[in-house]
Amino acid sequence: MNVTVAGLGYVGLVTSAGLAAWGHQVTGVDASSSRLQILASGALPFFEPGLDELVTSTAKVDRLHFTDASSEAMAGADVVFTAVGTHDGNGGWQTAAMDTCLNQVVPHLRDDAVLVVRSTLPPEYVRSLGAMVASLRNDLGRPMIPVLLNPEFTREGRAVADFMHPDRIVFGIVHDPDGTGQALLRAVYGLANAPVLCMPAMDAAFAKLGANLFLATKISFANELAGLCEANGAVVDNVVEAMSYDTRIGGQFLRPGVGFGGSCLPHQVSMTVKSASMAGVPSPLLAAVWEVNQAQRELFVTRLADLLGGLPGRRIALLGLAFKPDTDDLRDAPSLSIARRLLDGGAEILAYDPMPNARQRAAALTPGLRVADSAAEALAGADAAALVTEWPEFSRLDWALLGSRMRRRIVLDGRNALDPDGVTAAGLEYVAFGRGGVPRERAVVHGGFDAESSLGTQPIPSYPNS
Ligand code: UGA
Repeated sequence: MNVTVAGLGYVGLVTSAGLAAWGHQVTGVDASSSRLQILASGALPFFEPGLDELVTSTAKVDRLHFTDASSEAMAGADVVFTAVGTHDGNGGWQTAAMDTCLNQVVPHLRDDAVLVVRSTLPPEYVRSLGAMVASLRNDLGRPMIPVLLNPEFTREGRAVADFMHPDRIVFGIVHDPDGTGQALLRAVYGLANAPVLCMPAMDAAFAKLGANLFLATKISFANELAGLCEANGAVVDNVVEAMSYDTRIGGQFLRPGVGFGGSCLPHQVSMTVKSASMAGVPSPLLAAVWEVNQAQRELFVTRLADLLGGLPGRRIALLGLAFKPDTDDLRDAPSLSIARRLLDGGAEILAYDPMPNARQRAAALTPGLRVADSAAEALAGADAAALVTEWPEFSRLDWALLGSRMRRRIVLDGRNALDPDGVTAAGLEYVAFGRGGVPRERAVVHGGFDAESSLGTQPIPSYPNS
């Protein structure tokens, strides 16, 4: 089948390469000429494990092409996926790029083509999508075509595996009166070996949103549980392990620490609370999920200051900058808001992340943040190690050796990722979240949803009943 993908970010590029690997003839288009140049040079515009190999192998056998000749790519396609970003980078929705994309794509689509929207959309956009496409077709005197949503459930760092081996595939029907769109999309995913769930468009949009909101809820729950464990001398690892054997609960997304970051979970929680509030729909649980998450960043800073007896003049080795391992993505990374708060408090920071790109961009985004070329360099002479991203290489550090080069031997593990016994046996003081050690005052973010009061890059939504 001939497939065109408009938008070559994380979602679009993984979709393009994955569909090409399943044997489709895929053309990727993007509005950014620099992104296309990077791809033409054989490189990738971002790091994603396994994607390089998939793009290279499918391009080599001529099943994946990239072009700026958008109208030809649209006219030749049986199915067109749109995968443009809908996040404004500051906690809000940004649908202007989606409008532009539809304006550029829809007029060129063949009358027998199917339009599939893979971007995550706000509910109001889902509501108007069918009418927008119909009007663009009408203006040209062309018939309406099938339009479907196909939300993605891929995680950064695992996106290739998530795409190739999905748990489920969801279709949301915007317009497909005779089922041809659905049939074509089923054929596109013929090799996916996963249940296909077909439902109205708004249900599909909420199926995507609901999954992310629930994952965020689990993380905030784990963080609150860690506080309870700390206050009562329990070790959260043991508690979560025992809980995880209950198949109704499971063990994933229950790791406490500095909380969730990235371009999806924080944005979708905050935007859902905001739009619920505007619609007069109570969402106290999600509002609390947000509040707990922001408080974890605050708690990390408070805990560090507490361990160090104050921040001014202290040198902190910040370990990890990306919002999670196996990515170089810094969007709403807890590291950056924590770094800003530490710098404001008078500390000096030497940060290290295994991704050179993340180091460079973090330094550019955060005045005063200095970066090192290795964890050892960051730790030498530091008053404390502050781990905020659980890159595997941090678990393999020789703490006895590196600790001997630190000014003070303190490790604050913001991801509960290190072996507490190993670090302690190496002669360092180890503090984490709910893992025993000296219980310290939890930082409390007061006042519900005052945007100024807690850490985070995006505005915090207001909840009228809080
Ligand atoms: C998330 C979802 O997991 C994907 O299913 C979804 O497709 C994607 O959003 C999206 O909407 O596009 P992602 O943002 O890549 O994926 O990252 P996650 O793996 O969900 O992690 C989010 C954050 O939660 C990270 O900062 C991670 O460190 C944190 N986290 C995760 C915890 O703090 N504790 C945990 O137990 C798990």
